[in-house]
Amino acid sequence: MIRSVVRGYGAALPKRVVANRELEGIVETSDEWIVQRTGIRQRYIAGEGETTASLGEAAARAALDKAGLTPDDIDMILVATSTPDNTFPATAVNIQNRLGMTHGFAFDMQAVCSGFVYAMATADMYIRGGMARRVLVIGAETFSRILDWKDRTTCVLFGDGAGALILEAAQGEGTIADRGVLTSHLRSDGTHKEKLYVDGGPSTTGTVGHLRMEGREVFKHAVGMITDVIEAAFHATGTTADDLDWLVPHQANRRIIDGSAKKLGIPSEKVVVTVDLHGNTSAASIPLALSVALDDGRIKKGDLVMLEAMGGGFTWGAVLVRW
Ligand SMILES: CC(C)(COP(=O)(O)OP(=O)(O)OC[C@H]1O[C@@H](n2cnc3c(N)ncnc32)[C@H](O)[C@@H]1OP(=O)(O)O)[C@@H](O)C(=O)NCCC(=O)NCCS
Repeated sequence: MIRSVVRGYGAALPKRVVANRELEGIVETSDEWIVQRTGIRQRYIAGEGETTASLGEAAARAALDKAGLTPDDIDMILVATSTPDNTFPATAVNIQNRLGMTHGFAFDMQAVCSGFVYAMATADMYIRGGMARRVLVIGAETFSRILDWKDRTTCVLFGDGAGALILEAAQGEGTIADRGVLTSHLRSDGTHKEKLYVDGGPSTTGTVGHLRMEGREVFKHAVGMITDVIEAAFHATGTTADDLDWLVPHQANRRIIDGSAKKLGIPSEKVVVTVDLHGNTSAASIPLALSVALDDGRIKKGDLVMLEAMGGGFTWGAVLVRW
């Protein structure tokens, strides 16, 4: 059977790092409160000229370099984002243009913080369905531009950045020893809309709007939803937490990550945590975390890696990949 194997990875961050202490001058908060409640120590904030598309392009170029490929070798670009450069055209098409690509096709995927997991699952379907051979899967965000910088309950939590993977069609045996995406499980439930949303949009207010969140409510649902889809991925592949080499979660909050890992019996040494470095970068957080753990040699070829995320909607999902 055809498998979607990871061929390259890349990441890009804005130039400006903003430590918690710097936020103490903007809203009534403290480094201690932020670290204790979330594990976040700093985040990157996009400056003038840095946009979702420019960060996504940089991450894509890094992934192409690592894979020894050029844009000519790619036939589909999928960008997970909730902070596009424009309402339309899609940021994916913008990035396609920036890469000098006039062949193939590109489109955006909007599942907020679960966007990268949704995009991986979708790219895998396009590859296995024979519509694409090599897909650039990008998670790119500039959440700083939809934050209410007067609201301390949200503005301290998010950051900007982008990460990319290249998935490539390869022949597999159809067993869990295959390299590539082994299974994907996606969920959504719109009854939770009011708990995490943006209060504007083209068709309602005609404005971009600001992020609004009932943090405690999101927290209450997160661990259960995350562990449910991870267990579905284990069940579908006949694997268990013991078989896993790495859990690479969406990086929203250290306490959610620790709570999910504990419930699943995954030891903390197997969990990749970068929320301290990047804050919550929404759809970019998983490829940014992967990039850190690949660069420092933790994730190796053949490792079994679980990706998971939960976010606005609510949306949630898990993808199990043999690296
Ligand atoms: C947002 C979050 C960190 C808040 O932590 P919490 O322990 O739930 O804190 P609460 O909301 O109960 O607030 C506790 C107190 O801290 C205060 N507070 C909120 N933000 C603060 C800040 N940045 N600095 C200092 N104090 C703050 C609150 O006003 C509240 O004060 P009060 O007790 O006087 O009313 C936590 O709920 C969370 O992480 N939720 C999940 C959010 C998330 O990950 N969303 C993205 C999903 S993709």
